[in-house]
Amino acid sequence: MSLQLGDTVPDFEATTTHGPVRFHEWLGSSWGILFSHPKNFTPVCTTELGDVARLKPEFDRRNVKVMGLSVDEIDRHGAWEDDIEQTQGHRVNFPMIADADRKVSSLYGMIHPNASDTMTVRSVFVIGPDRRLKLSLTYPASTGRNFDEILRTIDSLQLTAEHSVATPVNWQQGDEVIIVPSLSDEAARERFPEGWRTLKPYLRMVPQPGR
Ligand code: BEZ
Repeated sequence: MSLQLGDTVPDFEATTTHGPVRFHEWLGSSWGILFSHPKNFTPVCTTELGDVARLKPEFDRRNVKVMGLSVDEIDRHGAWEDDIEQTQGHRVNFPMIADADRKVSSLYGMIHPNASDTMTVRSVFVIGPDRRLKLSLTYPASTGRNFDEILRTIDSLQLTAEHSVATPVNWQQGDEVIIVPSLSDEAARERFPEGWRTLKPYLRMVPQPGR
């Protein structure tokens, strides 16, 4: 069965461009992202990896460690990273797993045989400090992901892990949020003494806490 939200993510040992890694130990008490790439020296992956390298300070600021995966040998990663720097203007600055034996991609269900027997799909796993899966995305090989959107979801996950709120459609940092329906008005008055806007009894809008 595939990995589901709330599951503890599988631990593994892998060879990466930053040396051998034991995944749970590497995560430590940080948030983490593990994301797969169909194959080295492919165009969409090249653009994605350059963009994640550009955004690395944003992941760091949120205490999120980033690890990529490609089902190629380690000695093929270095030359590809040179290409990425040359074409995208950013050198890959996070570990990439060389998953030539597909151990990790099989463990995480990143190979979807009806899409391709040999390449991974574009998976993203966002993992909490408790090592449980908080969010997963699956894109086909031909569609590049939007890593600004992944940062946005991390902002939502980190906010909603700390406060009794949920984030509405298209939410961005600083926008109003929703008081979770499980919080009674009485309990909400204690959490949000400045009050809220009631659109419906189940739809109560409040300024983003902590800002
Ligand atoms: C790519 O990463 O560019 C790619 C990989 C497989 C199919 C199409 C595009």
